[in-house]
Amino acid sequence: MNIEKLNAIIKANQNPLPFANSKAQEDFWDNEHISKMMLMAHLNPNWDAASRRPETIEATCNWILSALELKPHQSLLDLGCGPGLYASRFCEQGLDVTGIDYSKRSIHYAIEQAQREKQAIEYRYENYLDLEEALLYDVVTLIYCDFGSLSLTYRKQLLNKIHAALKPGGHFVFDVWSTAHKDLTSTYKNWVNHEKQGFWKPTPHLELIHKTYDQALALSLKQHIIVEAETDVHVFNLWQQCYTLESITALLNDHDFEVLALVGDLTGVAYTPDSQSIGIIARKK
Ligand SMILES: C[S@@+](CC[C@H](N)C(=O)[O-])C[C@H]1O[C@@H](n2cnc3c(N)ncnc32)[C@H](O)[C@@H]1O
Repeated sequence: MNIEKLNAIIKANQNPLPFANSKAQEDFWDNEHISKMMLMAHLNPNWDAASRRPETIEATCNWILSALELKPHQSLLDLGCGPGLYASRFCEQGLDVTGIDYSKRSIHYAIEQAQREKQAIEYRYENYLDLEEALLYDVVTLIYCDFGSLSLTYRKQLLNKIHAALKPGGHFVFDVWSTAHKDLTSTYKNWVNHEKQGFWKPTPHLELIHKTYDQALALSLKQHIIVEAETDVHVFNLWQQCYTLESITALLNDHDFEVLALVGDLTGVAYTPDSQSIGIIARKK
């Protein structure tokens, strides 16, 4: 390995600023190889990596439908809908569903699937941070803790966009990881030698993983440093802002939302101090 590569690894690993090289800034969701691996992960029923398992998705949709007493033809916008695993279930229950995602591959899959199933779901390839709609939806969902992967600036921007897009009294339903999350709040290093391909690259590479947690900021970083023979070192920083019941309530209140329910996850299980996530129903004030 040459000295430039070693320096790049050391530099990447030295206390990056919060949300540097994050998924939002990186060629991440639309990268040819990563989006292929991501779609495989979404569709794998035995793997919770990108989407939750089918039975959890079913239970989540059922809980949201009953907690909000949703009726046919109420409108739901699913942000970061991925391949439409939730959107299709909400549509089956009679809701008017729109799904937005930033991965072309996932949106294409969702559109094809809706055509096959003859479901009238509007899917759009769009960055939800650019959402420009007003007073349209009864419910907005953002499922699988993607909220905490955004920088605080983007989280605030998104809350304002969602507030504008909801009808008066409309609901925002989402989840975040809690400060009790075992993996996110732990620290470790690991090396993985991918002899053929890995999640991040289709060619042989070495992956250096460094997991850290800043307790004062409740901020988790899982850093994947990819070292290949020929190309520059590539860094993927997976940041997650973890929350307590108090900190997520304060953020929502600051953005004109009233918190109606805080649960352990979006299947509606009760929250306990050991809950790994927090499921939230908030109402536009
Ligand atoms: C962890 S996955 C969850 C997908 C889906 N909600 C689920 O649980 O099956 C996050 C999804 O958000 C999408 N996404 C991330 N940032 C986005 C953005 N800025 N605008 C639109 N979609 C985004 C990704 O493409 C990905 O499909």
